[in-house]
Amino acid sequence: TEVVSHLLAEAFSSCGDLAEAMRQVCRRLEGAFTLVAVHADAPDVVVGARRNSPLVVGVGEGESFLASDVAAFIAHTRSAIELGQDQVVEARRDGVTVTDFDGAPAEVRSYHVDWDASAAEKDGYASFMLKEIAEQPKAVADTLLGRIDAEGALTLDEVRIPAAVLREADKVVIVACGTAFHAGLIAKYAIEHWTRLPCEVELASEFRYRDPILDRRTLVVAISQSGETMDTLMALRHAREQGAKVLAICNTNGSTIPRESDAVLYTHAGPEVAVASTKAFLTQLVACYLVALYLGQRRGTKWGDEIRDVIRDLGRIAGEVERVLATMEPVRALARTLKDKRTVLFLGRHVGYPVALEGALKLKELAYMHAEGFAAGELKHGPIALVEPDLPVVVVVPSPRGRSVLHGKIVSNIQEIRARGARTIVIAEEGDEAVVPYADHLIRIPATPTLLQPLVATVPLQVFACELATARGNEVDQPRNLAKSVTVE
Ligand code: G6P
Repeated sequence: TEVVSHLLAEAFSSCGDLAEAMRQVCRRLEGAFTLVAVHADAPDVVVGARRNSPLVVGVGEGESFLASDVAAFIAHTRSAIELGQDQVVEARRDGVTVTDFDGAPAEVRSYHVDWDASAAEKDGYASFMLKEIAEQPKAVADTLLGRIDAEGALTLDEVRIPAAVLREADKVVIVACGTAFHAGLIAKYAIEHWTRLPCEVELASEFRYRDPILDRRTLVVAISQSGETMDTLMALRHAREQGAKVLAICNTNGSTIPRESDAVLYTHAGPEVAVASTKAFLTQLVACYLVALYLGQRRGTKWGDEIRDVIRDLGRIAGEVERVLATMEPVRALARTLKDKRTVLFLGRHVGYPVALEGALKLKELAYMHAEGFAAGELKHGPIALVEPDLPVVVVVPSPRGRSVLHGKIVSNIQEIRARGARTIVIAEEGDEAVVPYADHLIRIPATPTLLQPLVATVPLQVFACELATARGNEVDQPRNLAKSVTVE
């Protein structure tokens, strides 16, 4: 960017027009960039340009805005313009002009941002993170709104994939990063169980480098809160080049990932400001369940009444999350007592395994502690060597209903680590008495269908990490070294 500013100065001195100077410079640049320039000799104009990196324009009354995300200007205007690939924008007080890098006028698509301006304020909470954790019941309910049409069929937001292609898909591949990747890991259980389609989940940053097997019958699902994560974007471009169809699950209207996908399901979490993802994660899960059901509906592996049953169960989740949130005081108190620990381990099985990974990620991001999630069955293959007296181990326990084999197995895992001195922090369904003798700390969650349990089991882990980080004096909304949208590879 330092070189770019010199190039701009040079071009401006010969042409005298900042937008034209920007176009000349952009034609010479390679790679990914978002540039915004002002010049002392060109007052009243701000020029922006983008390639492979986000830039959105806000059009207010007598003012214009340039930002990487609409959340930055929704307090001032809700009228936004998507800036396309390789475009230059000239923003003035009275409006904007958009061209391509050669100077040809570009067709602009403006849209209304329906996020509430107050959503970008803390509203009396100590942090955005606490506010966003508290907003989860609404976020979950909003993401479910309007998904069933007049005929009782499930609908997505935008589907440019022919029904036949969905019927004939023979594999689902999920690509995502960070917390969204954990949502993908959980989605796999639902997709395989409900559709009988094989489903792979891959870190977007690894995906294209290993020459993945993709063709016209592969459905790729890209999950991203921001819609701008470069690794995920590159993974989806690679998938489309190979002929695969891409369905995006995204929280940000008009962002690059949904724009470049063949179908979109928007999560309605509202703007998520805190760097560590909370409400977006829960809504990504809801969206993943909806996609799994949608595929089941299209492929005929799920009957209408079965779909309605799951939708009804999902409809109850907002209330269950509300109940979990109302019982978090002991979790906060426990977190404060652990503030000087060096390590916390997280264990889970089945869908509880990605929940354990997410619990560990939240603790790393916020509390800067060593935290690791394991599949509880893997304990005996290594991680149990880490267990020492008073080591806090959080265990996510699946439902005991139907005398689940999995439940019995995890109870013995808890016994094994407790016998070695671990301090067990057990997250278990209400009414699960089998875990009581082995739990040093017991966190109750409402009974939910097995596949949906992550929607309630994750919440105490978010609260736990947030409180522990606060007790350690950390800034929870802006953890060190992290960014909300990672627009570089
Ligand atoms: C960053 C954020 C994480 C997020 C990840 C993926 O690392 O700090 O919270 O999970 O990016 O972001 P995305 O916007 O693609 O969901």
